[in-house]
Amino acid sequence: MNAYFYFSIILFLLQALQSRAVFNITASEPLLQNQTLLSNSQIFELGFFTPNGSQNQYVGIWFKNMTPSKVVWVANRDQPLANTDRSASLMIGSDGNLKLLNGQQSLIWSTNVTVHSNYSVATLSDYGNFVLQDGNSNEIWGSFDEPTDTLLPNMKVGINVKTGKKAYLVSWKSENDPSSGSFVLGITPETPPQAFSWNGSSPYWRSGQWDKSTFVGIPDMDNTYMNRFSLPQDSQQGTSHFIMSNDNNSYFSYLFISSNGSIKLMDWDAGNDKWLTNWETPTNSCEIYGTCGPFGVCSSLKFPICRCSKGFKPRFDEEWDRQNWTGGCIRETELNCQRNTSTSGPVTVKEDIFMKMSHMKLPNSSTYLPDIADAEECQSWCLSNCLCLAYSYVNGIGCVVWSEELIDIQQFTTAGEDLFIRLAHAGKGPSKQTKVIISLGTIFGIILCGAAIYGLCKWRAKKRGMFKIRGTPALLYPGYTTDRPEEVQNACKEQWRQDDASELTLFSFDSILLATNNFNTINKLGQGGFGPVYKGKLKDGKEIAVKRLSSSSSQGVEEFKNEILLISKLRHRNLVRLIGCCTEGEEKILVYEYLSNKSLDKFLFHSSKKAELSWDIRLHIIHGVARGLLYLHRDSCLRIIHRDLKVSNILLNEKMNPKISDFGLARMFECTQVLVKTHRVAGTFGYMSPEYAMGGIFSEKSDIYSFGVLLLEIVSSKKNTSLDNHGHLNLLVYAWQLWSGGRALDLLDAAVADSFSPSEAIRSIQVGLLCVQDHAVDRPNMSQVVLMLSGESDLPQPKQPTFTFQSLTTHEIKSPQQESNWSTNAVTNTIIEGR
Ligand SMILES: *[C@@H]1O[C@H](CO)[C@@H](O)[C@H](O)[C@H]1NC(C)=O
Ligand SMILES: *[C@@H]1O[C@H](CO)[C@@H](O)[C@H](O)[C@H]1NC(C)=O
Ligand SMILES: *[C@@H]1O[C@H](CO)[C@@H](O)[C@H](O)[C@H]1NC(C)=O
Ligand SMILES: *[C@@H]1O[C@H](CO)[C@@H](O)[C@H](O)[C@H]1NC(C)=O
Ligand SMILES: *[C@@H]1O[C@H](CO)[C@@H](O)[C@H](O)[C@H]1NC(C)=O
Ligand SMILES: *[C@@H]1O[C@H](CO)[C@@H](O)[C@H](O)[C@H]1NC(C)=O
Ligand SMILES: *[C@@H]1O[C@H](CO)[C@@H](O)[C@H](O)[C@H]1NC(C)=O
Ligand SMILES: *[C@@H]1O[C@H](CO)[C@@H](O)[C@H](O)[C@H]1NC(C)=O
Ligand SMILES: *[C@@H]1O[C@H](CO)[C@@H](O)[C@H](O)[C@H]1NC(C)=O
Ligand SMILES: *[C@@H]1O[C@H](CO)[C@@H](O)[C@H](O)[C@H]1NC(C)=O
Ligand SMILES: *[C@@H]1O[C@H](CO)[C@@H](O)[C@H](O)[C@H]1NC(C)=O
Repeated sequence: MNAYFYFSIILFLLQALQSRAVFNITASEPLLQNQTLLSNSQIFELGFFTPNGSQNQYVGIWFKNMTPSKVVWVANRDQPLANTDRSASLMIGSDGNLKLLNGQQSLIWSTNVTVHSNYSVATLSDYGNFVLQDGNSNEIWGSFDEPTDTLLPNMKVGINVKTGKKAYLVSWKSENDPSSGSFVLGITPETPPQAFSWNGSSPYWRSGQWDKSTFVGIPDMDNTYMNRFSLPQDSQQGTSHFIMSNDNNSYFSYLFISSNGSIKLMDWDAGNDKWLTNWETPTNSCEIYGTCGPFGVCSSLKFPICRCSKGFKPRFDEEWDRQNWTGGCIRETELNCQRNTSTSGPVTVKEDIFMKMSHMKLPNSSTYLPDIADAEECQSWCLSNCLCLAYSYVNGIGCVVWSEELIDIQQFTTAGEDLFIRLAHAGKGPSKQTKVIISLGTIFGIILCGAAIYGLCKWRAKKRGMFKIRGTPALLYPGYTTDRPEEVQNACKEQWRQDDASELTLFSFDSILLATNNFNTINKLGQGGFGPVYKGKLKDGKEIAVKRLSSSSSQGVEEFKNEILLISKLRHRNLVRLIGCCTEGEEKILVYEYLSNKSLDKFLFHSSKKAELSWDIRLHIIHGVARGLLYLHRDSCLRIIHRDLKVSNILLNEKMNPKISDFGLARMFECTQVLVKTHRVAGTFGYMSPEYAMGGIFSEKSDIYSFGVLLLEIVSSKKNTSLDNHGHLNLLVYAWQLWSGGRALDLLDAAVADSFSPSEAIRSIQVGLLCVQDHAVDRPNMSQVVLMLSGESDLPQPKQPTFTFQSLTTHEIKSPQQESNWSTNAVTNTIIEGR
């Protein structure tokens, strides 16, 4: 609603009804107030407009057919025309420049460039660039060179340090006043460059360093999400430019800085005819520049958000306790290298050390050292230079060091970089903050979660002899961990050390009883893996979902620990969030966020409710699940295989955003473990891949199989195992029959008959079939699936899935684990049927 309201700048196009469209402005044909200039394909429109409630009139460009409209460029933002002026015109003057004249024929605005030939023509391109060409069709001026508050695809913002020319975005003064406001968004000239916004002259927001594909301070900006951006830097020319690419103009989007300083990336959702906010900043105080002051670390999910890192204490204790963090933190112990040897006596001076912090938005004011080739060299450079206060070795950038106060440091739960802060040797030891957390008694969290993590890591590490020598800085590349088993070990260890699990709330059993009205059956939401799930309401009104582990299940305790361990570390918008846990006596309880639309099966397999799932919603759900799964497989610090992906484990929030739930069976893997064999086949009938059901072998590819089944179920509203598959054994066989017969679209649920896009539907079904291929090697991995779904990669032809559980006869199956000594009987016996 908010966004809508904001964009509802109603354009009172003067005499809009009679306004006549033209496609060029020439010397003989100026643009009058009752005309508009259209781009060739009528995507953009240029004309006179008056913002709601304004006394002024402006010439601007807006999206023609997309409401609420958005003015993307204003010519005369600081030289308005009076709203009452009815005879203004935009014309080409005798000097070949575009000129905006008011009713009295005085000049309001002009392009003011040197034109070498007559016969200039002005046109509006389909990218939204208002272009002035000379008689030889050379572009002599373009509105893209003079941005206002909006960045369109193919437009550049940036800086040229040689000429001093800047193309920055400057916000409107207010929602209805296009004149230059106080917020400015631009690119800094340093290497690596950063995006920066200022409120007047004070810094307001910072992206973090550009690592050649993303900004290190924008964790959302992973490669599957915002890879449409580039920021080429040309040191010869002295230029740095930020570009949002869209060669094809195949989608519509824009990025802008609003009058209140928020930066938004908007995408046009053609299915629903509306603008969607793809990304927005700042959304919390941590994203505002320097909230925690020098050496203060901001974590938006902690309370309070600011803390001093280890070895530092608040500069002004009282102000700090009053949550005025601007004073920041100071060292508890002076650096050894800065110490006066004369005053400190005849002690052997110990070398300073580095404290590693993971998942960091690196501080401002970095210095890039281009000649340093690896992390070790970066560290020793920093150690040998007393002015060096911190370093980081970033994949895609290299060695960066800091010699000024570290400011604007943020800690994320995923993504981000490792930052190594210099400390005096003695200055190590737990900071005040850590002690407080411990004494506050998330003891359970630490003992259970921590011990489990630690135990697991240690056990695994021992088994592999992989603990790194203490004190050697270990490099972590979140999101790239898949090929780096050692780093996974260290990530794991590191995370345990940071007590991340302490972010969980520890609930008392009484408070759970109160919240669920003594586990009243009215509040029961369903039966999840290993126990019933209840809806609950906390004292503060917050709704929760409470999963009560059946005490009878001895198996469950392991799963319980596993689930806590895993979920508490995972943060993704397509995963259900664990808020806390409770153990008292026999009780083992997990507390999750509550999702108002419950699970997907409640819609998908419900004769009337399935109509609520339009094609776009279904596609949205498929994409969301794919991203969640990609995160589990690839992008989280650990590598996780869900093992029980199915429709009833996909929960929906009020906006129908899908979230994957139930990690009770999920397993964490080291990267070297490509295949795992288990003696306990657990999962759900109909979703298990051949190699898993038959041989107990599971890998990422077993999740891919389940995803394929899920996808086909979502498009068809049919259960894989249902008997209603038009006489076919199951949905996969049916889908394959239709596909190979060239009638794939017949698979679609009749409820989406008038909303689907055939090309998207075919693509989805094809991806589904690719995922359920018999041989794990033939199936795509999750990043390929995400690319395939987004239409950015070509799809191979799927092979026929022959594996069908019901028709199982060992001879027919050509799965790669025929040597498996599981008999068919044994398999069926160990299957835990649909929960
Ligand atoms: C301007 O547009 C008209 C059609 O609207 C076209 O006939 C004319 O050739 C164009 N002139 C130039 C110089 O492009
Ligand atoms: C547009 O306005 C001009 C005067 O400003 C007038 O001569 C012309 O007829 C109008 N055209 C239309 C289509 O209303
Ligand atoms: C103009 O803005 C006012 C208040 O900001 C609002 O009440 C009114 O509906 C707007 N007018 C239109 C046409 O939207
Ligand atoms: C046009 O540009 C010249 C320099 O390029 C400048 O001196 C002059 O003031 C400008 N005129 C207007 C109207 O902006
Ligand atoms: C081109 O511009 C010059 C100088 O303004 C003018 O004298 C000449 O007539 C123009 N030619 C045409 C064809 O408009
Ligand atoms: C921007 O700066 C102005 C003036 O310094 C101040 O009044 C305003 O609150 C600031 N806005 C934000 C969002 O910080
Ligand atoms: C342009 O769009 C078409 C279809 O819309 C697509 O096939 C093609 O790959 C796209 N090209 C680029 C460069 O994105
Ligand atoms: C700033 O404006 C945007 C509208 O573009 C709105 O969504 C956002 O909530 C506003 N932020 C604040 C802090 O008012
Ligand atoms: C916050 O603390 C600083 C000193 O660190 C002080 O100068 C400033 O006045 C304080 N601000 C408020 C709002 O108390
Ligand atoms: C270090 O020694 C110099 C002179 O020996 C003295 O001026 C300075 O204050 C000392 N610094 C510290 C931090 O003790
Ligand atoms: C941020 O860092 C850049 C250089 O990295 C520096 O030019 C700028 O002044 C810094 N900003 C602030 C507010 O310190």
